[in-house]
Amino acid sequence: MDIVCSTEELKLFKLIGDAAAHMNVSCYLIGGFVRDSILERPTKDADIVCTGDGIALAQTVAGLLPQKPQVNFFKNFGTAQFKLNGFDVEFVGARKESYLPESRKPEVTPGTIEDDQLRRDFTINALAISLNKEDYGTLIDPFNGMQDLADKIIRTPLGPDVTFSDDPLRMMRAIRFATQLGFSITEDVFAAIARNKERIKIISQERITDELNKIMTASKPSVGLDLLFRSGLLREFFPQLADLSGVEIIEGKGHKDNFYHTLQVIDNTAAKSDNLWLRWAALLHDIGKPATKRFEDGHGWTFHGHEVVGERMAQRIFKQLKLPLNEHMKYVAKLVLLHLRPISLTKEDITDSAMRRLLFDAGEEIDDLMILCESDITSKNKLKVKRYLENFEMVKKRLMEVEESDKIRNWQPPITGDEIMNIFNLTPSREVGVLKTAIREAILDGVIPNNYDAAYELLLQKASELNLKPANK
Ligand code: CTP
Repeated sequence: MDIVCSTEELKLFKLIGDAAAHMNVSCYLIGGFVRDSILERPTKDADIVCTGDGIALAQTVAGLLPQKPQVNFFKNFGTAQFKLNGFDVEFVGARKESYLPESRKPEVTPGTIEDDQLRRDFTINALAISLNKEDYGTLIDPFNGMQDLADKIIRTPLGPDVTFSDDPLRMMRAIRFATQLGFSITEDVFAAIARNKERIKIISQERITDELNKIMTASKPSVGLDLLFRSGLLREFFPQLADLSGVEIIEGKGHKDNFYHTLQVIDNTAAKSDNLWLRWAALLHDIGKPATKRFEDGHGWTFHGHEVVGERMAQRIFKQLKLPLNEHMKYVAKLVLLHLRPISLTKEDITDSAMRRLLFDAGEEIDDLMILCESDITSKNKLKVKRYLENFEMVKKRLMEVEESDKIRNWQPPITGDEIMNIFNLTPSREVGVLKTAIREAILDGVIPNNYDAAYELLLQKASELNLKPANK
């Protein structure tokens, strides 16, 4: 079998084969590298399995390489790794492995290549290619992984309950691979995920979220999110998202299913942007809806204030999912808070002042907010969507015009708080805040233009109303 890879990688694999032969062990390329080369997907790491000491093999290979890469190893797991020009190479000894129930501690004994393949997660990840002289390049495929690649199927080498109880993270991985590769999970494997969903609790949140982010980065994240929801796995670690699902009907009036609406919004967003955090904003934009849902007589369903509740929930969810509590969290919370604003400007008689206020509040995030808001226009009624999108285009155009003339997007006050304190010989105080706000509001309302002279004139006028005089007069 031809390995589709670069000449450097080929050289490396030959060298690994030679080193293993010297050490009298067999070795194989296995896992994601084999899968991805067959699928002609880019690869950035390779896993090598040998029937012997993986750490010793890694050290020998590293010693033979001109670059002499540093080998990192984990004695407990018998794994070693080094990096070669950004390419990650991992070594492990072939193992028979089983996990004790309720524990992450594996019981490991040396095994053959077949033993090792049997305890891997999926048939498509258990494909191995020999690096040994006698059969170099031969594909070892005891579980029909090649056929499953062709049929686009995710299946486990062992019974799925065993594979998942060995490592419950594999339930997330099954869904992640299905999403990334556009494969389907076989019925029995999917049923096993539903049966074993509670076992995900023994996995660290960081590892779960890592998989979730890989789903979010895929071209159609809705595929994985839907599978997570339907298997019940989602509710185990992210109940707030699962709570968006369902339709309630009162007096013949129903609201839309906010879970499936959200999935549509994420796919719309993903089609326009690779930004993971913008996709997170799409995922969380309506997260406050269940908590704010009301049925108002004569009016129907309302979700007043869901954007404010959502902003707060977004921050809690970041904590719960161990997502970074940094500027990414603030960005997502801000977009959730503002997600209704652009669409509210599609009504008639919208003033330039309302446009300026949105530009001011969104700041740097205005373009991403517009992507989110446009993605939020979903309806079964095609005519309605068309009309909304046309109105939305008009808002975009007007925002651009207002920004062009008034430069509000990265607005900096034309007179700073420090200057105000100098002019009136003030210490930091309420008055400084009042004067700053007066200038800002006047500019946003279009009462004065956005420049120093106009701001200074207004400042003197407002200051005199507060009985303040410039210090040097
Ligand atoms: N593996 C496994 N069970 C896991 C994780 C990994 O059996 N929970 C095995 C699979 O054979 C997998 C290989 O280890 O192919 C390497 O794992 P990893 O690097 O995490 O995944 P890849 O398959 O390489 O895919 P990706 O790089 O997209 O994560």
